[in-house]
Parts: sequence; C-alpha cells; structure tokens
Amino acid sequence: MTASTVTTAVFPVAGLGTRFLPATKAMPKELMPIIDRPLIQYAVEEAIAAGITKLVFVTGRTKRAIADHFDAAPELERALEEAGKLELAALVRETLPPHVHAVYIRQRAALGLGHAVLCARPAVGAEPFAVLLADEFITPRPGALNPTAALAAAYAGSGRSQILLQDVPASEAHKYGIAVPGPTPSEILGLVEKPAPGEAPSSLASIGRYVLHPEAFDILASLGPGKAGEIQLADAIDALARRGRVGASTLDGRRHDCGSPLGYLGAVIATAARHGDYGADFRGLMAAELAAGGRGG
Ligand code: UTP
Repeated sequence: MTASTVTTAVFPVAGLGTRFLPATKAMPKELMPIIDRPLIQYAVEEAIAAGITKLVFVTGRTKRAIADHFDAAPELERALEEAGKLELAALVRETLPPHVHAVYIRQRAALGLGHAVLCARPAVGAEPFAVLLADEFITPRPGALNPTAALAAAYAGSGRSQILLQDVPASEAHKYGIAVPGPTPSEILGLVEKPAPGEAPSSLASIGRYVLHPEAFDILASLGPGKAGEIQLADAIDALARRGRVGASTLDGRRHDCGSPLGYLGAVIATAARHGDYGADFRGLMAAELAAGGRGG
C-alpha cells in the first residue's frame, strides 16, 4: 500500500430523507431496495470492488437497521441452513466479506453533508478516503471502471481530491453543486452549490462520489453554515478547487437520483428491465401497463 492508496470509504447516511416521507420516518432511505438489495449494499459493493477495506458509516437516529443489515445474523443463517436454503444462507452471510470491516459513527444532528463527512474524521485519520452517497444509484457502462475505482485511480495519479461530474440540463442545475470548469476536463476551478437559475458556471454537476485528500477535513472544520444553513461538502471542495487541488472525472455510465421518488422509480425500472431472472417478465408487465395507458381498473 502507498500513501495514495485509498482503502477507507465514508457513507454519510444520516440525512432526514424528507422527500421520501413517510417511508423514511423510521427507515433509512439507504435501505430502500432496488429489487432485492438495498441501495446501501450496491454502494458498499462498489467500494469493495474498488479496493476499500474499511467502511465508515455516519449514521443518525433512524439508521440502526443499516448496522443490522451488515452484521452477522446467526439465527437467520441457521434457520435457512436447516431448511436446506443454502444459497439464501450464503446471501445473508456475505453482506460483508471477511477482509472488510465496518465502523459506525453518529451524526447527532443533520447539520449537512459536509458536517457528516467531518464526523468521520476520527475513524479516517490522515488518509485519503472515498465518499459514496448511496442514494445516487450508479451503473457503470459495461467494461468501464466503477466510479469509486476511477476516482481512486485519478487520486493515485495526481494526489488531488477528485469528484465525479455529469452533464445536466440547465433547468436542473439549481439542484446540484455545479463545477467551474478548469483548463482541462480533468480539473475544476470551483464548485458552486445549488446556483440560482441562470447563474450556473457550467452544466457539469457533482454527483455523489468523491475521493478526498485528508486536507478536506481541515477546511470542513473551518466552515460555517452555507446554503440551507447546512455545512456543505461542496463549499469545502470549492475552497480546495480554488487552490488547484481538485480533479474531476466524467461519469461513464448511468445514474438515478434515488433521493427523489421519480429517480428511485427510474432505478427500479432500469434494473428490473435488465435483470437476469426478472427482466423478460418485467418487460411484459411494463408493456401491458403501457398498453393500458396507465389507467386504473
Ligand atoms: P440529501 O441532500 O439527499 O438530504 O443528502 P437528505 O436529508 O438525505 O434527503 P432530503 O433532501 O431531505 O429528501 C445527501 C446525502 O448526505 C447525507 C444523506 O444521508 C445523503 O446520503 N446527509 C445529509 C447526512 O448524512 N447528514 C446530513 O446532515 C445531511
């Protein structure tokens, strides 16, 4: 391992999930399933495939179920084994491989994504680290590196923090951190959190995957509340970018924002339509629904 190898990933999962209430009143949105696996499991699998061995979950009040999901469940495993359901028993056992360990840290109040990342500092230390927002459901193009692996490789090559960008329509820019483009596509000069309509510096939105140099913690610790009164990760990245310390990669794949109901539905449909077991039947169901014009009855 070298100083530039990224082996720790932070999963901020302490948001309030207001766009999904009441589903998220007692259940974290990161446990919403795309067919049979929760969003957080897809993100964890992406991180592990990128070489991550330490998972730091920043959790909040309703998030105990996330720790339970990744914990051993000996009674369930035994019951499945006794019933001869060995494949299911293996699925339950293998939510985390043995070489990976998980750490849980509480964010006592939802003071913003930047604050959640700062809460992870004692578990991360002075190492570079990935950040994955599990509600950004990303499917890489077949054959492409997953986004965390791509950002980790760019970090290893540059020693600079890295963000993932995707082109968004101008009408959507106010929902994102928007990049101030640099002299080359792999560099940004700033990041503007949720710009007012007509004030976006580009169409390139920052989307839910980061690899950060530990210097980001010092900046986060010095920030006051930004947009919406929250401590914004985008503001820390903006400060780093102004010093020439941020690189960028463009998403090579598809993305669904599962923090919003429509984005979540898109992720379910896209995954189901391509699914090895359910794909053909699901496409039949969809065709029948579309033929009926989505009408009731
Ligand atoms: P969102 O902007 O999606 O906020 O957070 P949210 O609270 O989860 O959802 P809405 O907007 O109320 O519907 C982006 C990511 O940052 C985490 C969230 O869990 C999500 O992964 N987050 C946000 C925290 O961990 N803590 C915070 O204080 C805020």
